[in-house]
Amino acid sequence: MAIISNDIDLAANYLKKDEIIAIPTETVYGLAGNAFSEDAILKIYTAKNRPLFNPLIIHTYSLEQLRSFVKNIPENAIKLAKEYMPGPLTLLLEKQDHILDLVTAGSNLLAVRIPNHALTINLLSQLDFPLVAPSANPFGFISPTKAIHVQEQLGDKIPFILDGGECQVGLESTIVSFNQDGIPVIERFGGLEIEKIKEICNDIIIGQQISDKPDSPGKLKSHYAPKTPSYFGLENLKNPEFKDKNIGLILFDSYIENYESKKIDKENQLILSPNSDLSEAAKHLFSSMRLMDARNFDFLIFQEMPYHSFGYAINDRLKRACS
Ligand code: TXA
Ligand code: MG
Repeated sequence: MAIISNDIDLAANYLKKDEIIAIPTETVYGLAGNAFSEDAILKIYTAKNRPLFNPLIIHTYSLEQLRSFVKNIPENAIKLAKEYMPGPLTLLLEKQDHILDLVTAGSNLLAVRIPNHALTINLLSQLDFPLVAPSANPFGFISPTKAIHVQEQLGDKIPFILDGGECQVGLESTIVSFNQDGIPVIERFGGLEIEKIKEICNDIIIGQQISDKPDSPGKLKSHYAPKTPSYFGLENLKNPEFKDKNIGLILFDSYIENYESKKIDKENQLILSPNSDLSEAAKHLFSSMRLMDARNFDFLIFQEMPYHSFGYAINDRLKRACS
């Protein structure tokens, strides 16, 4: 089992020895290691059981440090950085030569972000290297939003979890790249409302949505996946196969009493936000999936969220949880 503690000196000591540890951010917990150390990076891939061609995000504590890793920063990137760094924003920018290919999986673009979490910013500012940190879950599983989630899934593979409480956003960062004209391309819906990005940059393009799921041959289907077979959309309740099965529901803001004359037990339903607040729904999403997964239903069915604000990102994660 890993030590769970909020001692950043201890955390820094592990990292300086090329050990990997879990760190809190406002989005989800990350599995962190020295971004300049091939040893540390390889430990991350091994512990997560993650394919080597899936690149990592570099985490830093200041715009100044960030600028030393990338070049040719478009105007819109600067505008977004001013607003959302620190924050749940990851920028894909041209990397400088000294950034290891192991970090970017050979790409000339590097993903960088400044997490908005005091403990982790403090830790980063004590180190003379930045940290690479994918979400601290085994490859293909639900991202962790509490220290205990990391303990359950990776506790036997890492020595230390820096405990920063529950993640306040609960969804991974929004990943943005820029096209030739400098227009932002939303590569992954996440903890930023896309309406806000549009407001700042005037124009946005919705990209193809990257995930940890590799695009190469042999790609794994599920991601963020519960063990329980899961389905997206309440219309699945009509499926004759599910008749007489024990079904768990994850819903947006209200319970349902029955569906097409089939009565549905309230006990089996979990509401993400009674106040119809999509940011609250986002915050509770992954821990709700874990809770429902642990209850041994035959199936889980997820309700589609409204398509605005965090709804895009939540629906994206819910769909990926279905196989
Ligand atoms: O909120 C977050 O971003 C969290 C916390 C821990 O910071 N981190 C996170 O990392 O979600 P990860 O590795 O689980 O997801 C990062 C995604 C992956 O799907 C990866 O393929 C993509 O970003 N990515 C990273 N670097 C990239 C690059 N250079 N080009 C294209 N995609 C990249
Ligand atoms: Mg991940």
